[in-house]
Amino acid sequence: MQTLEDKVILITGANRGIGKSLVKASLEKGARKIYATSRDLSKMPNFGDERVVALELDITDNAQIIKVAEKTKDVEVLINNAGILSQGNVLEGEISALENDMKVNYYGTINMMRAFAPILEKNTPAKIINIVSIVAYSPLPSIAGYSASKTALYSATLSVRIELAKKGVTVHAINPGAIDTDMNKGSEWDMPAPDGVATIILDKVEAGELDIVPDEMGLGMFNAWKESPSKLAEMYSNMYHGE
Ligand SMILES: NC(=O)c1ccc[n+]([C@@H]2O[C@H](COP(=O)([O-])OP(=O)(O)OC[C@H]3O[C@@H](n4cnc5c(N)ncnc54)[C@H](OP(=O)(O)O)[C@@H]3O)[C@@H](O)[C@H]2O)c1
Repeated sequence: MQTLEDKVILITGANRGIGKSLVKASLEKGARKIYATSRDLSKMPNFGDERVVALELDITDNAQIIKVAEKTKDVEVLINNAGILSQGNVLEGEISALENDMKVNYYGTINMMRAFAPILEKNTPAKIINIVSIVAYSPLPSIAGYSASKTALYSATLSVRIELAKKGVTVHAINPGAIDTDMNKGSEWDMPAPDGVATIILDKVEAGELDIVPDEMGLGMFNAWKESPSKLAEMYSNMYHGE
C-alpha cells in the first residue's frame, strides 16, 4: 500500500466540486503540501491549512502549465480533475461546444501529463490520477462532446499508464457516475456528495486500484458494461429517449 501521507500533490480545478473535495481529502490523508490550482484565484476557498498553496492555472493555456510546472518541481502526485461538460448531441449540437470539451478535458489534461511526467519521473514513486467519467465506457448522446472527450482521455490515460509503467509512475483512471456538483446543477438524480466520493477515490488509489469507479450509480453502469457493452448502451439509449 502506497499511502498519500507526506506526499506533495497538485490538483487542477481545485476551487469547487470534486476538486475542492479532493483538496480536503488530501489534507485528511496527511499530504505534506497541496498545490490547489484554479483558473481564477479569487474563486479559491480558504482551506484554513498552510499546507495548501493556491496557484493560478487554466489547463487550456500551455504556457501557464509550463510556468506552473517550473514552480512545482516537488510534485509527486498529479490529480487532473479540471473539466467541463457541454450539452448537445453529435448531429445537432454546436461544433464549438464539442471542440471546447475536447480542448479542456482531452488536450488540457494531455498537456498537464506531458509537462509533469518528467517531474514525476524524478520524484518516484509517483502517481497521475485522472478524473475521467463512466461515459468513457459508452457515450450518452445528450452530452456527446463530453462523452467523446472522456473516452479520448481514458484512452490517453491507458497509453500513459503503459508509457510510464517502468518509470515508477502509476497512472489511475477515475470513472465516476453522476456526483452532486455544479456540473449536474438542475438534475433530479439522487447523487452522492463530492466529499465522500473524494475520500473513496483516495482510499482506492492508496489501495493500488488502477481503474476506479467510486460511486454506486457508476458501479451499476460499469457492471452493466462489464456484462456486455451493449447493455450499458441500451441503458443510455433509454435515458436519451426518455424511456
Ligand atoms: N460531477 C459529476 O457527475 C462527474 C462525473 C464524472 C466525472 N466528473 C469529472 O470530475 C471533474 C470535476 O467535475 P465537477 O463535477 O467537480 O465539476 P464542477 O463543479 O463543474 O468543477 C469543475 C472544475 O474544473 C475547473 N475548470 C474548468 N475548466 C478549466 C480550465 N480550462 N482550466 C482549469 N480549470 C478548469 C472549474 O473551474 P471554474 O470554477 O473556474 O469554472 C472547476 O474548478 C471533471 O473532470 C468532470 O468531468 C464529474
